[in-house]
Amino acid sequence: MTYIGTPTSRIDGHAKVTGAAKYAGEFNIKGLAYGAVVASTIAKGRITRIDTSDALRVEGVLDILTHENRPPMARADGAYKDDVAPEEGAPFRPLYDDKIKFNGQPIALVLAEEWEIARFAASLLRIEYKKSDFVTDLHAQRDKAFVVEKPEKTRGTADKAYAASAVRHEAEYFIPTEHHNPMELYASTVMWDGGGKLTVYDKTQGVQNVQRYLCGIFNMKPDDVRVISPFVGGAFGSGLRPQYQVVLAVLAARALQRSVRLVLTRQQMYGLCNRPATIERVALGATADGTLDAVIHEAIAMTSQYEDFSRNDTGWSGLLYKSPNAKYVHRLARLDLPTPCDMRAPGAATGVYGLECAMDELAVALKLDPLELRLRCYSDRDQHEDIPYTSKELRECYRQGAAAFGWDKRNPQPRLMRDGSELVGWGVATGVWEALQMESAVRIVLTANGHAEIASAFSDIGTGTYTIVAQMTADLLGLPLDNITVKLGDSTLPQAPVEGGSWTAASVSHAIAKTAGELRKELLRVAKTMPGSQLAAAKADGVALIDGKIVDKKDTRRSVSIADAMRHGRLDRIERESTNTFDNGNSHARNTHSAIFAEVRVDEELGVIRVTRVVNAVAAGRILNSKTAHSQIMGGVVWGIGMALHEETQVDHALGRVMNANIAEYHVPVNADVHDIKVIFVDEPDEIINPLGIKGVGEIGIVGVAAAIANAVFHATGKRVRDLPITLDKLMK
Ligand code: MOS
Repeated sequence: MTYIGTPTSRIDGHAKVTGAAKYAGEFNIKGLAYGAVVASTIAKGRITRIDTSDALRVEGVLDILTHENRPPMARADGAYKDDVAPEEGAPFRPLYDDKIKFNGQPIALVLAEEWEIARFAASLLRIEYKKSDFVTDLHAQRDKAFVVEKPEKTRGTADKAYAASAVRHEAEYFIPTEHHNPMELYASTVMWDGGGKLTVYDKTQGVQNVQRYLCGIFNMKPDDVRVISPFVGGAFGSGLRPQYQVVLAVLAARALQRSVRLVLTRQQMYGLCNRPATIERVALGATADGTLDAVIHEAIAMTSQYEDFSRNDTGWSGLLYKSPNAKYVHRLARLDLPTPCDMRAPGAATGVYGLECAMDELAVALKLDPLELRLRCYSDRDQHEDIPYTSKELRECYRQGAAAFGWDKRNPQPRLMRDGSELVGWGVATGVWEALQMESAVRIVLTANGHAEIASAFSDIGTGTYTIVAQMTADLLGLPLDNITVKLGDSTLPQAPVEGGSWTAASVSHAIAKTAGELRKELLRVAKTMPGSQLAAAKADGVALIDGKIVDKKDTRRSVSIADAMRHGRLDRIERESTNTFDNGNSHARNTHSAIFAEVRVDEELGVIRVTRVVNAVAAGRILNSKTAHSQIMGGVVWGIGMALHEETQVDHALGRVMNANIAEYHVPVNADVHDIKVIFVDEPDEIINPLGIKGVGEIGIVGVAAAIANAVFHATGKRVRDLPITLDKLMK
């Protein structure tokens, strides 16, 4: 293959950096009206009165929608269930009734001729409430948490084995609520196409999910709602479920019979989607020689009062390391906050943080190198099901990562490596994620001039999907990359799931391979009818499309030009669409893995921590584009630095309200926090998972990073901080 595997620059890069790429809040049409959201200032209760009179007197205000006067929307909870909604519970229904479920809940939408007018008028609403008691602190609710059934199977007798273990470690680790802060705000521009038909430009990871959702809520036919999301300015899970602004924008367009734009403010972004605050209790029992006897992992995570959101936090623990006994418990505690949502490697980012810090503490107790402990506990089989992996090159991740980092020069004693006034610490952790693959469809149109257009409803959430789709299509059709046009992010295109779970690369690639195979078959059929055809005896799987020709793979001198074949068959274009499915059977486990090595430097007097070096060695099957894949992992490492040292949504539990709802006070890593990051992809051939051996790299990059950094901080300082983020006050305490 010419393009697959090569470090190819984004084909949409030019459009993005020049501003030609348009985002949901940037599409224009004449007569656009603008919305501004008014949000609840109490955490729980009822709205008793909304006085809109002052706001309505502002010149340019068109209407103000509240639960009292809004157009009709579905009553049944089920109508609000999108593809990614939790199974248990009733989704939030914006502007539905007078009930307040969380602080920051939208309670009115001001519509005006200009955005500034809408926003000013929104400040003039007078709202009266009847307040109820509420709770927003996970620690206060932990005893009321209820157990969620999970597929991870307990094995052996973990409690008994733990009690009898020679060396034991047990601790609680805490990950606070974190909020999504993609550069692009939640935004929807709804074009009123007349007669009730709508074109909805939305910031989303799944255009068809949003389409189905809107049809359910507004009782519209699929043909009446087209959802488009050509570019996404970062999503990371925040755009998996439709957000409330798209409902409000559609509600407004239907009320005004006019096109409407609604963009949330950065502050309003904190009124929804978050990584749930989670307590991870991990207990590890080991023999004196450093093999595990027992793994016990219990998680207590927050959810809302109205939905049960939970992910796999605990199951990774008994999966990753060999241990005859393992037990998991996952609990949810209800808080008066919005339902949490997926955030990059949901469950693993938090659960593996607990596990990998606990492994480090166990290594200290065993007086064993933490990398050596992981090697002694290495498992070649999926411990839950006792089945082999399709591939697992984690050992090679450890080896190459350690070599690149220089791990063998580590002094095992904490506080002994220093550089001037700074204590230097080195930490290691493992990462693991699933290699999922989903049914999806693509359409390819090949034209006689040697161009191809490929289309699928997948979104490119910034991960590089446009580029890998173009690479794959170019290689499979034997065309130059520049001759490929990629269409994504439109609900009218062939069926695709939401872009998430790191499944897009594998899923779309195989849909392309299948569809390209059908095109190839058609080209061969025509080529065979040519007089004196060199391919008269060839079979469909015996030819490939290379350099504009149909070529006999066994004897490459035998070929027919694609252009000649199409001309002969009087074909201007060949169009094929097909849906690819996967064998997701239970014979093998499918996972990606990583080994992360981190160096921190801690100012001994001030407690200031800098992450000066990170090596992340990843095993994720075939890497389609080493440049965009590298960016994915690097981004995951940067986010891991934020998780370890910066990110924390602070809720005032007396008000039930987020206090740092802005990116000045909600800290994320900036350039000054990011130093040397080295990404390694180890070779991981995989002939079992799928024909092309693809696993996906969207999420693995963050898993384990915060643990490697926390472990490095311990190694530097001798102080173990288990509550994230590790801020200097905790270190100095
Ligand atoms: Mo990812 S958290 O599935 O967008």
